[in-house]
Amino acid sequence: MEAAEIRAVLVTGAGGGVGRATTQALAEHGFRVYAAVHESGTEFLEHPDVRVLRMDVTDPASVAGAMAQVLADGCAALHGIVNNAAIIVQGPLELVTPQDLHHQFDVNVFGAVAVTQAFLPLLRAGRGRLVNITAATARLAGPFFGPISASKAALQSLSDAQRLELAHWGLPVVVIEPGFLDTAIFAKSAQATAKASAALTPAERALYEVQLRTVDAALAKSKPASPAIVADAVLKALTARRPKPRYTVGPDTRMLGLLARLPLRTRDRLIAGVMGLNKIPAAR
Ligand SMILES: NC(=O)c1ccc[n+]([C@@H]2O[C@H](COP(=O)([O-])OP(=O)(O)OC[C@H]3O[C@@H](n4cnc5c(N)ncnc54)[C@H](OP(=O)(O)O)[C@@H]3O)[C@@H](O)[C@H]2O)c1
Repeated sequence: MEAAEIRAVLVTGAGGGVGRATTQALAEHGFRVYAAVHESGTEFLEHPDVRVLRMDVTDPASVAGAMAQVLADGCAALHGIVNNAAIIVQGPLELVTPQDLHHQFDVNVFGAVAVTQAFLPLLRAGRGRLVNITAATARLAGPFFGPISASKAALQSLSDAQRLELAHWGLPVVVIEPGFLDTAIFAKSAQATAKASAALTPAERALYEVQLRTVDAALAKSKPASPAIVADAVLKALTARRPKPRYTVGPDTRMLGLLARLPLRTRDRLIAGVMGLNKIPAAR
C-alpha cells in the first residue's frame, strides 16, 4: 500500500489503558495512528505507523502544536478522531471543589470539543469519523461519581448534536459507552481524591465517611473488563460500512442500561441497595 493511502487516525489519551489498546489495534489493522499522549505513556509501542505526539487537551497551544506536527508529518486528511482522554473526579458533590469540578469538564468535555474543532478540517478532508468515548455512567449517575457522570453525559449530548450537524458532510459521529474497565484511571482518581480529602476539615471528612467506605467496598466486588474490548469497538466504528451512532461495550452495560430506564424512585432504591447505602442508618 502506498504511504499516501494509509488512513490516519488521531487518538487522544493514547498513553492510557484504552488509548494504548486502541493505538495498538489500529496500527495492527493498517492505520497510521497519531497517538497523542499527555504526561504518562510516552515510552510507546514501537510500530512504524505510530507517531507519538504530546497533547494536553486543556491547553489550546498544545492542541495547536499537535496539529502542526500532524501537518508537518505530511498528513492532510484524517479517517478518524478518537476523543479518549479523560480523568475521573469523584466525591460527594457537597465537598468537591469548584477547581476540581472545572478540571473534570475542562478535560472530558471542553478538551474533547477543542480537539474536535482543531482537527475537523482534516477529518472533513478525509471524509472521516468522529469517535467520542463516553461511559455507561453518562446515563446512570451513581452516588459520589457526579462529576465524571455529568461530564460524560455532557459529551454524549454534544455528540448527539454534532452527529446531526456533520451529517451534512456525511461524517459519522460515534459514541462508545464502556462499562467498568481494568485501567489506571481509578488509581489516578483515588490519588487525586486522597489529596482533596486531606484539604478538608475533620468535620467535613466525617460527613460522608461511612457512605464512601460502603460504596468503595461494594465497588471492590465488581470485575473490570479488558480495555481491549473498547479498542475493538473503536475499530468497528472506524471500519464498519455504516457505523452505529452508539456502541455500548462491556458485560455490565446491559444491566446499567436497564437500570437507567427505570422510574427514578425504583432506580434510586436499587442503586442504594447494590451499593449497600440502604443499610446505613439515616442521619438525624
Ligand atoms: N476505565 C474505566 O472503567 C472506564 C469506563 C468507562 C469509560 N472510560 C473511558 O475510557 C477512556 C479511557 O480511559 P482509561 O480507562 O483508559 O483511563 P487512563 O488509563 O487513565 O487513560 C486516560 C488518558 O487520558 C489522559 N489525559 C488525562 N488528562 C489529560 C489531558 N489534560 N490532556 C490529554 N490527555 C489527558 C491520561 O494521561 P495522563 O495519565 O498522562 O494524565 C491517560 O493517558 C476515557 O474516556 C474514560 O472516561 C473508562
